Amino acid sequence: MRNYAQSVLGHDMPDELQRLRLLESFTDPVTLPVLESLGVGSTWRCLDVGAGAGSVARSLAFSAADGSVIATDVEFASCRPISTI
Ligand SMILES: C[S@@+](CC[C@H](N)C(=O)[O-])C[C@H]1O[C@@H](n2cnc3c(N)ncnc32)[C@H](O)[C@@H]1O
Repeated sequence: MRNYAQSVLGHDMPDELQRLRLLESFTDPVTLPVLESLGVGSTWRCLDVGAGAGSVARSLAFSAADGSVIATDVEFASCRPISTI
């Protein structure tokens, strides 16, 4: 059985970053208001499993500016550093 990274959704695909950013453009308008409705506090400790291109982790990092955010993924080549925002 092939896992996620070995499939057509794997990070070795040449347009993987474009795919992840396109996914963010569709899902962030739903995901980010949910996080906002939770009222993520400035000292929260957050874990983003499967961060993809990292938009949710970056949003959490701004909300939890005095806390921490750990973002994980099987491949981080597509995740832009927060300093590029
Ligand atoms: C559908 S994308 C979602 C990306 C992001 N969370 C978003 O909402 O835009 C799923 C991500 O989970 C990652 N992933 C898949 N299996 C994983 C695992 N076992 N551990 C960590 N990350 C994983 C993939 O590499 C991919 O970047």
